[in-house]
Amino acid sequence: MVISIRGLAKDFRVGVLGRRMAAVKDVSFDVLPNEVFGFIGPNGSGKSTTIHMLLGLVRPTRGGGTLLGHPLGALAARRQIGYLPELPNFYGYLKARELLEISGRLAGCDLGALRRVVPELLERVDLAGRGEDLLRTFSKGMLQRIGVAQALIGDPRLVILDEPMSGLDPLGRHIVRNVIIDLKARGRTVFFSSHIMPDIETLCDRVALIADGRTLRVASVEQLVRLGQERFEVQVRGQQLQPPAGIAGASWQGTVGDVGRVEVEGTAALQQVIDWGRSVGELLAVTPMRESLETVVVRAVATAADPAPKQERTP
Ligand SMILES: Nc1ncnc2c1ncn2[C@@H]1O[C@H](COP(=O)(O)OP(=O)(O)OP(=O)(O)O)[C@@H](O)[C@H]1O
Ligand SMILES: [Mg+2]
Repeated sequence: MVISIRGLAKDFRVGVLGRRMAAVKDVSFDVLPNEVFGFIGPNGSGKSTTIHMLLGLVRPTRGGGTLLGHPLGALAARRQIGYLPELPNFYGYLKARELLEISGRLAGCDLGALRRVVPELLERVDLAGRGEDLLRTFSKGMLQRIGVAQALIGDPRLVILDEPMSGLDPLGRHIVRNVIIDLKARGRTVFFSSHIMPDIETLCDRVALIADGRTLRVASVEQLVRLGQERFEVQVRGQQLQPPAGIAGASWQGTVGDVGRVEVEGTAALQQVIDWGRSVGELLAVTPMRESLETVVVRAVATAADPAPKQERTP
C-alpha cells in the first residue's frame, strides 16, 4: 500500500477563545502502487488538511496511517514524495532554474544530475527557455507549472498534487495531464485533488469523495458513474396519455403530440413503467440516461448533507 489512512481527523483551535473547529472528521482510504488516485469534494471539505496530515505538515487529532510503509510524517517517506501545494508561493527573486536546483538539492540530488534533469523538467512543463527568468515575472499558470516541475524533482515514487490544474488554460491542463499519464507509465503513484471532473474521469483509476470532513465513497470512476446510471427515459406513444400512477421512481415528463416521456429511477420501477407503457399504447424507446461524474458527485454530497431520504446504494 502506498497510502493507507484510517479515521483521520483534525480539529483546529480558532478564535480568541480557542474554540474547536473540526476540519477533518473521519477520512479513510488506501492508495495502491501505481494508481492515479483522485481526491474530490466541495470547497472546505478537508482535502488540503488531509493532504497536510499525509505529509506530516499537520498532526492528526485522531486516526493515522502509513505512507510508503512509514508512519505519517516520517522523514524516510517524505524523501520519496513530490508535493505541489495548493497555492504555491515561491520566492520571486529566484530564477526558475534556481528553484528547481534548490528543490533538487533538498531532495538529495547531486548538482551534476540536476544540471541534466532541470532543463528536462522545464521542457516537460513547457517552460524551456524560461529557466533564467525570475519567478516574479511568471504568470499564475506558469507558476503553477513550475510548481508541478518542482514536485517531480528527484523522481519521487509518490507524487501528491493539491489542485494541479487550478489556474491553468486548456494547454496547461493538457501538459499537466500528460505529466500524470507519464508518471503512471513509469510506475509511479499519483495522488491529486481536483475540482475538474473531466480530468478526474480521464486520469483516475479510483477516487475518494469527501464531504464535510468525511469519506463518502472510495470507488473507481466507472463504479461511481454506473451508480448514477440506473436512470432511464421511457417513451410511449398513445392517445390521451395520463401519467403512470403509483410507480415509485417514475417521473412523468409530459407529452409532445401523442408521445409521452417518463424518467425512471431503478430497474424495478423500469419494469413497471415498461408494463404500463405496453398497456396504454406503444413502447417506443427505453434509453439509459448516462450521468456525468459531476452530477453523481453533486447528488452524493447533497444526500450526505441531508440524510433524510436515506435510500442510497453503496458500490
Ligand atoms: N489552519 C487552519 N485553522 C483553522 N481552520 C482551518 C485551517 N486550515 C483549514 N481550516 C478549515 O478546515 C476546513 C477544511 O479546509 P481545507 O483547506 O482542508 O478544505 P479543502 O477541501 O482543501 O477546500 P478547497 O477545495 O477550497 O481547497 C475549512 O473549513 C477551513 O476553514
Ligand atoms: Mg484545498
